[in-house]
Amino acid sequence: MSNKENWGSRVGLILAMAGNAVGLGNFLRFPVQAIQNGGGAFIIPYLVCFLVMGIPLLFIEWSMGRFGGRHGHHSTPFILDSMDPKRVIWKYIGVFGIFTNLAVAAYYCYLESWTLAYIWHSISGSFSGQTSAQIASFFDNYVNLQGGGFEPVIVWLFCLALNTWILSKGLSGGVEKVAKIGMPLLILFGILLAIKGVTIKAGEQGAIFDGTVGLNFLWTPNFDSIWSAKVWLAAAGQIFFTLSVGMGSIQCYASYVKSKDDIALNAMSAGWMNEFVEVVLGSSILIPIAIGYLGIDKVVEMTQSGGLGLGFRTLPYLFQQWGDTLAAVAGVFWFGLLFFAGITSSLAMGTPCMGFLMDEFGWKRALSMDIWSRHSYFRLTHRIIL
Ligand code: TRP
Repeated sequence: MSNKENWGSRVGLILAMAGNAVGLGNFLRFPVQAIQNGGGAFIIPYLVCFLVMGIPLLFIEWSMGRFGGRHGHHSTPFILDSMDPKRVIWKYIGVFGIFTNLAVAAYYCYLESWTLAYIWHSISGSFSGQTSAQIASFFDNYVNLQGGGFEPVIVWLFCLALNTWILSKGLSGGVEKVAKIGMPLLILFGILLAIKGVTIKAGEQGAIFDGTVGLNFLWTPNFDSIWSAKVWLAAAGQIFFTLSVGMGSIQCYASYVKSKDDIALNAMSAGWMNEFVEVVLGSSILIPIAIGYLGIDKVVEMTQSGGLGLGFRTLPYLFQQWGDTLAAVAGVFWFGLLFFAGITSSLAMGTPCMGFLMDEFGWKRALSMDIWSRHSYFRLTHRIIL
């Protein structure tokens, strides 16, 4: 039993694929990896990895997906199986293409829910007039489930429900719509914040350095660590993460293209859109703002203990330096873009699982989510369970 769903339009397909790739990784992981690995010293291995590894992998995964889709399969166990039906092993290897997505989704959706809560707190002024220590401990309390009571749990459940509901609306009616609204807004918010970030002036609004100091740190090529295996590993890891390759989610999305659709150009468009968001927008917000206010040394030190802190503990405080109104706007833009980045990726993590259940067990999308389907499979299980 296979389903014959397709993407509604080419723009929708590219935006959904770009949404799959563009995620929290572009805005929170990339800048931190870059800082930890020496700024300018990271960029060269990163770009080399994108060209020699990322792009070929995108082509491979898109072609595998389209091939499987032609045979009515939309999840890696059966996509791999249709490529080499003689060997059973591929089916089992393909199972990773479902479970790695669920494994990433397990923490990803929680982070995504933080962004929702932080949009609300930015609007309601929770951060205004607070010291940097207060804003930092607001975050610590939030993630430790202290102070705010059940808020984090409730927002997280809401976020899961929202993802499930969108998935139940189908590919073109749900996932694609969200990408068509979310991606343009994300880029708009990103550009506005990036303009503010790079135009920070030393001595104005409490900044110590120009916004360009952070940009220079990142974009001045530095060949020192080019021979360091650690830097190359970090760069390759970031390319895998940011392009969502090696996970099965690209194969899954590509399996819904129409069988005559061009994939080379579409793969390139989505892949380069991710790189634009990552290297242009991703490096022009967090880094210039944090370095403008705190200096390179301090920011390098802060990323030693991981990166989420910069986005959630530090930025909301730094936004406050721009005055209450602008701080609220910047908070909504920053956490709003993180939310759109997050949800278009978490939907991509859920789709392989949906595709698998719908193809192989004949689950109906909407019904499989909440009510028992009228399909005979369910009559059977229904009878067994009751
Ligand atoms: N690429 C996403 C990001 O940059 C994260 C991601 C990793 C992902 N693996 C995935 C998204 C699998 C969708 C499916 O944040």
